Amino acid sequence: MLSKSDNDLLTETGPATPGGRMMRAYWQPVALVGELLSDVPLAVRVLSEDLVLFRDAAGAPHLIGRYCPHRLVDLSYGRVEGGGLRCIYHGWLLSGDGRCLEQPGERGHAGFKDRIRHPAYPCFEAAGLIFAYLGEGPPPRRPQFEFFDPRHAAGVWAGKLYHECNWLQGHEGNVDPQHLSFLHRFMSAAAALDPGGNALVVDDVAPDIEPEETRYGMRIRTVRTLTGGGRYVRVTNHVMPNCGSFGGVPMFDPAAGPPPHENSGYQLHWHVPIDDNSHWKYTVLFNRERALDKRFITDKLFGEQKTFYSRRTRANHHLQDREEMRRQSFAGVGRNFFDHDKLVTEVQGAGAIIDRSQEHLGTTDRPLMLMRRLLLQAVRDVAEGRDPQFVERDGAPDALAEMRVEVTVEPPPARAPELTPAQ
Ligand code: FES
Ligand SMILES: [Fe+2]
Repeated sequence: MLSKSDNDLLTETGPATPGGRMMRAYWQPVALVGELLSDVPLAVRVLSEDLVLFRDAAGAPHLIGRYCPHRLVDLSYGRVEGGGLRCIYHGWLLSGDGRCLEQPGERGHAGFKDRIRHPAYPCFEAAGLIFAYLGEGPPPRRPQFEFFDPRHAAGVWAGKLYHECNWLQGHEGNVDPQHLSFLHRFMSAAAALDPGGNALVVDDVAPDIEPEETRYGMRIRTVRTLTGGGRYVRVTNHVMPNCGSFGGVPMFDPAAGPPPHENSGYQLHWHVPIDDNSHWKYTVLFNRERALDKRFITDKLFGEQKTFYSRRTRANHHLQDREEMRRQSFAGVGRNFFDHDKLVTEVQGAGAIIDRSQEHLGTTDRPLMLMRRLLLQAVRDVAEGRDPQFVERDGAPDALAEMRVEVTVEPPPARAPELTPAQ
């Protein structure tokens, strides 16, 4: 459980809130690269701030306040031109760094345009995502994820899915390995997307779960003991403050040959607040050995709704199907794990934010408890003027070099030869 005040610290991320200042200390994904065309601005809401993305003449992304500093017209209706974004009402031109470059209708106001300072945040693109830094002071070093290397571009897929709940409950699912044995369970091998994987998590529903603090956040080692004595070991991670990484072979068209081996890549889920009641789950699938069939993956994950918004919502009871629950899936909402996770995180408690003072946490929740401690410490660090965990500056060693994502099935130990009794 968490006290009401600590719960507020972690779930409220608007400007000037302690939790919001902590989240702003890190680079955050704010859009998919494919959403931002060269000449069409894109409205985005991040951490309760209304912003607009656009590309300059060189194609570089910029993120500025959404409402024009003159009389607050929505700049997502603006024109991308002159290296900036021009408001369609009176033609003011805003640059990507928040300066007003032109006020074509103004005469005789020397220095007026130079006094305009519009909100503007630095951005970069990597792995199909646009990242921005909404914090104070100079941005930290960009995170050094292996898949940011452009040489891996063919092996990286990025997408996002809207969640109608606070970011923290979405992310808490990333540090909860036990739920794989229930929420994502299929009722038979024939019903499972991955019959082998389903059998492994169903075989031992009470795994040993060991969280361990790292410089980037937390490593979780989950060990299931299999019937017959083998072990199923998963190493997953919480990456500060709102990202999880774990194994799982990205979807491959079976017609295209055998899938790549289990540890040739991994996936990440970033839970980025839109505001306190909703968030985007940005997902990266990465394989370092093979090009991904991106169209196939998009179709498998989002083919049903063809948008970033699932048709399954609280309003329609997530289209849960009782007949399917009897025969096919434990949760009754299809075979897409994204839909399973979205369902449970959106229906924790009556509103969009869980009252964590009402929880009864068990031993399987130890990673969750550690993660909350790390996040609360990060909130305190930022409030007291220190860089929080995994905010790295130039020259510091790369904490992500320690991150391991692994899935291993260990065979039963060989039986010791029987000893001959001493004569
Ligand atoms: S409101 Fe934008 S230029 Fe006037
Ligand atoms: Fe899940």
